[in-house]
Amino acid sequence: MDKLLTFPDQSAMVLSIRAKAMLFHDPRSSELLQQVERIARSDATTLIIGETGTGKELIARHIHDQSGRQGPFVAVNCGAFSESLIDAELFGHEAGAFTGATQARAGWFEAADGGTLFLDEIGDLSLALQVKLLRVLQERQVVRLGARRPIPLNVRLVAATNVDLHKAIEAGRFRSDLYYRLGVASVNLPPLSERAGDILPLARHFIGVYSGKLKRGQVTLSARAGAALLSYEWPGNIRELENVIHFALIVCRGDVIEAEDLKLTGISHRRQSAFQPIANDAPPSGEGLPQQLAGLINRMIDADHPDLFDSVEEVLVRTAFNACHRNQVHTARVLGISRNILRTQLKRFGLIGFDGVSASHRELLQ
Ligand SMILES: Nc1ncnc2c1ncn2[C@@H]1O[C@H](COP(=O)(O)OP(=O)(O)OP(=O)(O)O)[C@@H](O)[C@H]1O
Ligand SMILES: [Mg+2]
Repeated sequence: MDKLLTFPDQSAMVLSIRAKAMLFHDPRSSELLQQVERIARSDATTLIIGETGTGKELIARHIHDQSGRQGPFVAVNCGAFSESLIDAELFGHEAGAFTGATQARAGWFEAADGGTLFLDEIGDLSLALQVKLLRVLQERQVVRLGARRPIPLNVRLVAATNVDLHKAIEAGRFRSDLYYRLGVASVNLPPLSERAGDILPLARHFIGVYSGKLKRGQVTLSARAGAALLSYEWPGNIRELENVIHFALIVCRGDVIEAEDLKLTGISHRRQSAFQPIANDAPPSGEGLPQQLAGLINRMIDADHPDLFDSVEEVLVRTAFNACHRNQVHTARVLGISRNILRTQLKRFGLIGFDGVSASHRELLQ
């Protein structure tokens, strides 16, 4: 008798994913979500392209949920199988098709009949398998290894990649005909840094999720922590943000996450991202700097940054103070304000104590 490969409990899987809220706050993201939902309602083979952690699998599951297809959602990571195994895994095999194949087995394609097959990391598929996949897509039927009889299929295919398939095509590692067949509809998930309006809402969302799991009360983000999240580059995208918030909740002492609680491993990225356009693109005269600053502030406005005025002031004073090696006279001159006003600001942001002593040593000791 045919035996299906063992899958995790599909209903439990779908439920756990449904329970995961999706958040699309940035105008770019909400537009993208609408596009995804339009695509979902068609039966078109879909290619999702996005850097690691941008939510490709989440989108694939959403496409399935919104498609109205009654069958299961089956996710297969093409990079996770050895070359010899993946053939049988995808297409199934008859008894005796190869050594050790004592029983006939349906493959993932058959398992996803009536539903959606999600082929993750499609760029990892060997050229030989790409040919087979192309045939299945063209003929909408699958032939198990060792069988002659084709089995008709009703499967919606969604594939994902985080590698640039154009480059893979140029390098001869990916078939262009398969690329066009996969990408009948394509979804480009922008990196998190390009949809900055999602950063703080996602951070708050993950604070809610993980403070529940960690049985913490209500936890908020300090203005400076929010500014740090906004100016970080997020090379690991939403997954990294999720991890950073989870970790921050574990280490933060009170009910406010401070900038120090955020483990932003790519610190250089952060500095670069906040100031990169100024450092790299600005003419030496400093022309265009106010526009670039306005761009950053617009990002903060889009992101609903709380206490915007205070945050911007704090970042300005703190950055100048650090750049001037905590020399007050020099900082006041750079900022074009009196030393008295500077001292008031430094106290306000806890950069010096009320006794006027620089807090740098205290900070270092903390
Ligand atoms: N819009 C979103 N709203 C809420 N959570 C999201 C969103 N997008 C992604 N996530 C969360 O971020 C994490 C990464 O998402 P997902 O696994 O779908 O990304 P991926 O692009 O497939 O990553 P990888 O390339 O590493 O496989 C998951 O925990 C997911 O729930
Ligand atoms: Mg993934």
